[in-house]
Amino acid sequence: MAKLFINEKNKKGHINPEIYGHFAEHLGRCIYEGLYVGEDSDIPNVNGMRKDVVDALKEMQIPVLRWPGGCFADEYHWKDGIGPKENRKKMINTHWGGVVEDNSFGTHEFFELCDQLGCKTYVNGNVGSGTVQEMSEWVEYITFDGVSPMADLRKENGREKPWKIDYFGVGNENWGCGGSMTPEYYANLYRRYQTYVRHYDNAAPIKKICGGPNVADYFWTEGVLKTCFAPPQPNNIPNGYMDGLSLHYYVHPGGWENKGSATEFDDAVWYTTMAKALYMEELIERHGAIMDQYDPEKKIGMIVDEWGCWFDVEPGTNPGFLYQQNTMRDALVAAVTMNIFNKHCDRVKMACIAQMVNVLQSVILTEGPKMILTPTYHIFHMYKHHQDAALVESCIEGNKMIGVDEACQVPLLGESVSVDKEGCVNVTLANLSVDEDAPVEMSFMELAPKEITAAILRGEMHAHNTFDEPEKVKKEAFDAYEVKDGKISFTAPAGSVISFRIH
Ligand code: AHR
Repeated sequence: MAKLFINEKNKKGHINPEIYGHFAEHLGRCIYEGLYVGEDSDIPNVNGMRKDVVDALKEMQIPVLRWPGGCFADEYHWKDGIGPKENRKKMINTHWGGVVEDNSFGTHEFFELCDQLGCKTYVNGNVGSGTVQEMSEWVEYITFDGVSPMADLRKENGREKPWKIDYFGVGNENWGCGGSMTPEYYANLYRRYQTYVRHYDNAAPIKKICGGPNVADYFWTEGVLKTCFAPPQPNNIPNGYMDGLSLHYYVHPGGWENKGSATEFDDAVWYTTMAKALYMEELIERHGAIMDQYDPEKKIGMIVDEWGCWFDVEPGTNPGFLYQQNTMRDALVAAVTMNIFNKHCDRVKMACIAQMVNVLQSVILTEGPKMILTPTYHIFHMYKHHQDAALVESCIEGNKMIGVDEACQVPLLGESVSVDKEGCVNVTLANLSVDEDAPVEMSFMELAPKEITAAILRGEMHAHNTFDEPEKVKKEAFDAYEVKDGKISFTAPAGSVISFRIH
C-alpha cells in the first residue's frame, strides 16, 4: 500500500493558469479545418471558427493560446494576413508540407478566436526573417489606441479598439528553424528587437518572452542570459529585457530519427516514453539552476511553450502535417508532465502543449465535420482545477520503481496537489504501470474529508478514440474509494489517472 501524505496547510506556490496553455500553429490541419473553417463553411461556425471545437476547448478551460508558430512564426509576415481576404498574399508553408498558405487566418482571426475562447493571447514574432520595423509595427497595429499609421490601418480593416497582447515571443527556436543562430548572436538581436515591442498601454504591459533552449542545451541558456538578463530597470519594466525564457522539449521514445508509432508499441516502449516524459523535471531543474544564478528571486518565468509526444505521422497522411493519434500513453505523459509543472510552479509560469488540434499531442482531432476528444483532452479537463490554485506539499511513501528492464525504471505513482480559492483540495494521481494496480491510502494534515468528487481516465495502454469509436476513452466518475478516520483508500488501476476534489 502506497501512502500519499498531503499537508494542505503548507502552500508552496501559485500555479499560474497559463501552465495549462496551448499552441496553435499554421501546420497541417491545425488552423485550417481544425479551428478555422471560414464563414461560408457547412461546418457550424461563429465568424469562421468551428463551433464544436471552440465549445470543447472552452469546457476544458484554456488559459492562453500561442500563435502563429513554431517554425512558421519566423517565416510569417503579418501584413500578408490582414485586410480583405481575397487580397491577402498566398505563400508557401515551406516548413510544413510545402502547401499554399492563403493567409485567411491572420491577426484579426486570431484575436477573434481568443475572444471566443476567453483566453489570454501569446503572439510569436518573427526574428529569423523579419525586420525590427515589421515586429514593432505589428505590436502597434494590435495594441495602440490612438492615431498612428498602424492603428489607422487596423481601423480601416474594421477594428476600432486595440486588442491586448498578454505575451509576445521574440522569435522561435532561433538556434534552429528560426535562423540557426549562436546564443550570443540571438541574444544581441533579442535585446534589439524587444526594445521595439512597445508597451503602448502601461496598465497592461506585454510580457516579453526570450527564445530559450532546446532540451538540454544549457550552453544556450547560459549564453542568452549572460547577454539578455538585466536586473529591474527604472522604467516601469519589472524585469529589464525579459519576462520569460522559453524551453522546448518533445518526447519521442525512439529518438528523433525513429520516433515510433503513436498507437503500436510494447511495454518497453511505454516505459521509455514515461522515462522521457519524467526527464522534463531534470530539464526544469538544470535550466532553472542557471536562471537562479541571474534571477534568484524567480521573476523571470520558464515558459515551456512547446512540449508533448512527437511520434511518426499516421500512416497515409502527409509527412509534413505531423498528424498523429493519441492513446492512453499520451494521457499518462500529459498527467506526469503537468504534475511536474505544478511542482515547479515557482519557476514554470507558462507551458503550451503542441499543438492544440490535429497535429502532435493534440487535445482534439477532426475529420470533416466530425470531432473527437483525445485522452489528452480528458487529462486537461481533469487537471483544470489546479489552475490559479496554490500548490501544497505532498509525498508518497512506499512508492516503488517499475519497468521491464533495470536500465529504464520509473516510479509507479506520481502526484501533485493544490488547494484552490474555495479551499477545495485537488489531487491528481497517475499510475504509470502497464499491469500493476496500486492500492493507495491518502491522508491529510488537518482536513477531514466531507465532500469528495473524483474522476478517472483509464484504458488499455493503446486505447484511443477514433471517428468510428469516439468515446472509447473518456473521463468517468470514480467512486471506488472508502473514507475512514479521515483517510481515503482506493486502488489506482494500472495505466490510469485519477483526480479528486475534496472539501
Ligand atoms: O511543433 C512542431 C515544431 O517543433 C515547431 O514548429 C517548432 O518550433 C519545433 O521544432
